[in-house]
Amino acid sequence: MSKKFDVLVIGGGPGGYVAAIRAAQLGFSVACCESNPYDDPKGEPRLGGTCLNVGCIPSKALLHTSHLFHEAAHGFAAQGIKVGTPEIDVAAMMARKAAVVTQLTSGIKGLFKKNKVTLIPGHGSFVGPTDGGWQIKVGDETVEARNVIVATGSSPRHLPGVPVDNTLVCDNAGALAMGAVPKRLAIIGAGVIGLEMGSVWRRLGAEVTLLEALPDFLAAADVDVAKEAAKIFAKQGLNIQLGVTINAVNATGDSVSIRYTDKAGGEQTLDADRLILSVGRVPNTAGLNAEGVGLRLDERGRIDVDGQGRTNLPGVWAVGDVVSGPMLAHKAMEEAVMVAEVMAGQAGHRHFATVPWVVYTNPEIAWAGKTEQELKTAGTEYRVGKIPFAANGRALGMGETAGFVKMLSDARTDRILGVHVIGANASELISEAVTALEFGAASEDIARICHAHPTLSEVMHEAALASDKRALHF
Ligand code: FAD
Ligand code: NAI
Repeated sequence: MSKKFDVLVIGGGPGGYVAAIRAAQLGFSVACCESNPYDDPKGEPRLGGTCLNVGCIPSKALLHTSHLFHEAAHGFAAQGIKVGTPEIDVAAMMARKAAVVTQLTSGIKGLFKKNKVTLIPGHGSFVGPTDGGWQIKVGDETVEARNVIVATGSSPRHLPGVPVDNTLVCDNAGALAMGAVPKRLAIIGAGVIGLEMGSVWRRLGAEVTLLEALPDFLAAADVDVAKEAAKIFAKQGLNIQLGVTINAVNATGDSVSIRYTDKAGGEQTLDADRLILSVGRVPNTAGLNAEGVGLRLDERGRIDVDGQGRTNLPGVWAVGDVVSGPMLAHKAMEEAVMVAEVMAGQAGHRHFATVPWVVYTNPEIAWAGKTEQELKTAGTEYRVGKIPFAANGRALGMGETAGFVKMLSDARTDRILGVHVIGANASELISEAVTALEFGAASEDIARICHAHPTLSEVMHEAALASDKRALHF
């Protein structure tokens, strides 16, 4: 006899586990299946998906440790703190990262218990429709559910002819688990993972070279932010080569050799001790039997959904990295809540236009809404309010004066269209901008809000004032 549920969620990442919890809160009987043990010592499937196991959380743990190390080596002396030459214990750093991951992934198991979500270990795949629902094979058992939420996420994109062993040639999993600081680290792809992981290993002492195919650096970010970031990262010793074409990668013994054509058309060879491949991610649909049941995919292999997460099959929904939109954990979680609520007859919504982007380098980079280049292309008339962190007392006290806040608002209505931050705590500061965008606020609204002093948030306040040419402290 098959187990029956109102809802079966396939995949236990941020899209899947949040969908399961919210659906259970709304009164559905819910199961969630997950197949990946990641590095669970007992080999049992772990919840949390890419984000908790080999993505957001472990990368931020390593970014934090490497930042502290770098500060101890290069920042403390300026503040009158003498510590001698710090040493990095990579094994201890990795053990701490693993403990953070374990605590969070087991926490989700606890949340499943609390919300009465049944965890079914195993790979889920569609068998076919059944009376008013779907039959899904999970491992050796068959489960029936009235609704299925596919939240199978994404996997790293690999390059043809470049075998990833996660020792010499790494994707995100290997990049987060190196046993020692490589002397020479090569990274193909100067996107978010390349910059974050490049920063980690650079701060710990590696010589880091990033090879990027696009001619422009951080093309998705505002052009001013990208320019400022390129200058700062170059000073930090990240060697970023743009406009390259990778011709061949040879991994032999304990080193890797990359042949590429540079921007000027010259043939180059880069030798390194480790290579990280960070050239984007692909949706996980293999093994779902999508074709067998007629689940429609789009031109990029993602599950095709409408604005509320419905697929072309009745009762089948999809959320997160496996559907269109930014491949971000908070976007997956928003969609998860939306789908559960729509399923319960409520008015769930998702709003891509206000999804914040953050790159956790130092300084951090964060933005929400339109970039200046997008506004120019669209022919929108806009005003710019731009204030450097160097004009802020708190930033000065912290010794974190790099970067700026740039606010873009409609020249006629004053409505905020985009906010771009490069600077300390940009990841936290961007929340104010997201709130403003979500509620359709004007720069005048932010200008009239009382911001605590001394805080970095005053840079946002001043940027709003600067939009009307009345900044008080710059
Ligand atoms: P996933 O997290 O990929 O989870 C899907 C789960 O489904 C997986 O555990 C998989 O094993 C399971 N699964 C797949 N197929 C099946 C099946 N058939 N049956 C059962 N289980 C299945 N995003 C941010 O917002 N902020 C960050 O700082 C950030 N940092 C990142 C750093 C790195 C190094 C990486 C790689 C990603 C990062 N991301 C970040 C992106 C974020 O991890 C993803 O957007 C997010 O995890 C997507 O959630 P998801 O639930 O859609 O998919
Ligand atoms: P990405 O899309 O951010 O960057 C990939 C880069 O590789 C691009 O700049 C692309 O032009 C380049 N590239 C592609 N093919 C190439 C080739 N053959 N040669 C050289 N360069 C090539 O993808 P990334 O860094 O792999 O990360 C995947 C996703 O994970 C991100 O898009 C993001 O959604 C998510 N993520 C989010 C983080 C955050 O929110 N802070 C952190 C890390 C990942």
